[in-house]
Amino acid sequence: MAEQELGAAILGLGIGRAHLRAYQAVEGVRVVAVADINPTALKQVAEEHSIPFATTDYREAVDAPGVHLVSICTPDRLHAEQAIYCLQRGKHVLCEKPIAISPSQLAELRRTAAASGVVFAAGHNYRFVPQFAALREQAAQGVLGELFLVESSYIQDLWGMRSLGPDYWRFKDPQDLFIGGAVHNVDLLQWVAGEVAEVHAYANRVLDFWPTENNFTANLRFRNGCLGHVLLAVGAKRKRKFEVWLKAYGVEGSAEAEMHEPKLMLDRGDDPGDSPREIALEKADSHQREVAHFVACVRGKERPLVGIDEASKVMSVCFAVVRSVRSGKVEPVEYV
Ligand SMILES: NC(=O)c1ccc[n+]([C@@H]2O[C@H](COP(=O)([O-])OP(=O)(O)OC[C@H]3O[C@@H](n4cnc5c(N)ncnc54)[C@H](O)[C@@H]3O)[C@@H](O)[C@H]2O)c1
Repeated sequence: MAEQELGAAILGLGIGRAHLRAYQAVEGVRVVAVADINPTALKQVAEEHSIPFATTDYREAVDAPGVHLVSICTPDRLHAEQAIYCLQRGKHVLCEKPIAISPSQLAELRRTAAASGVVFAAGHNYRFVPQFAALREQAAQGVLGELFLVESSYIQDLWGMRSLGPDYWRFKDPQDLFIGGAVHNVDLLQWVAGEVAEVHAYANRVLDFWPTENNFTANLRFRNGCLGHVLLAVGAKRKRKFEVWLKAYGVEGSAEAEMHEPKLMLDRGDDPGDSPREIALEKADSHQREVAHFVACVRGKERPLVGIDEASKVMSVCFAVVRSVRSGKVEPVEYV
């Protein structure tokens, strides 16, 4: 029997364009509505992709005829409110990270998602980067032995964003950068090493046009005794503009991977030879894989890799890090 054709709406057309391209590559899905408050971007995307319905009001896109699922790709502060609007109308949601920017937003979203009966998936696309997934798989299979330390860094040169001007949402209505950026790193670390019990973090600011702290170092203690470290440095001025690393150290060996290099370095002390093993992997578009997985969840064939419970754990750690930066103290993770 042919599968039901699904209609998608996309809210926000920055990274939302990557979601759009990803839906277009999934069989049986059509993007039928887009929303953006910027009429120029809206018109351009709607015309280029022949989208039948385009609006500056996100509610109209969600309520447009034939919309079954919605990608939320608007500024951070709007995610929870827009996701709740969709879930209350029975629309499946793929929500970009961070899914909420405060514990109270998160609690309300979590309650709504749990009661909705539809799919809620968080846009934690780094889990769909093959080398990160391979590292997690090696760790889960015990190839590294018991993990005692994991670390993940997000290093980016964002000096060029000055040209966006003070009215850009990230500067005009600033949100904690750890929550928006390092959410990926925290997610990867919890995926690999389990739940975090407490954190201690520092932050500073070097991007003078960015109103909030833009560099963070956070130490994590996992419930199982493993230690963790997250480094977020977006004030770096460098030629390699963007790197994301994931590393894990176990009593049998260690592994590391970088987001742009489709390979996993596996280094086990007792293996034969002098060099670590390099496992080559296929390069993949993580947004493409994430969207395909989301559609499979909507069709009941898969379960969200990062649903509301998993995403809430990640956000709870991020909130504790922000608290620690403010208090200067070790902060327990208060799971929402
Ligand atoms: N998972 C990833 O790898 C990834 C990468 C980039 C961005 N993001 C996330 O996606 C979100 C958007 O980031 P971006 O880089 O695309 O920003 P962006 O500024 O490039 O795009 C945001 C778009 O949303 C529009 N917008 C603002 N308010 C709106 C509203 N009320 N309704 C509809 N549209 C609205 C803006 O006009 C803009 O076009 C952020 O939350 C960010 O954290 C995730």
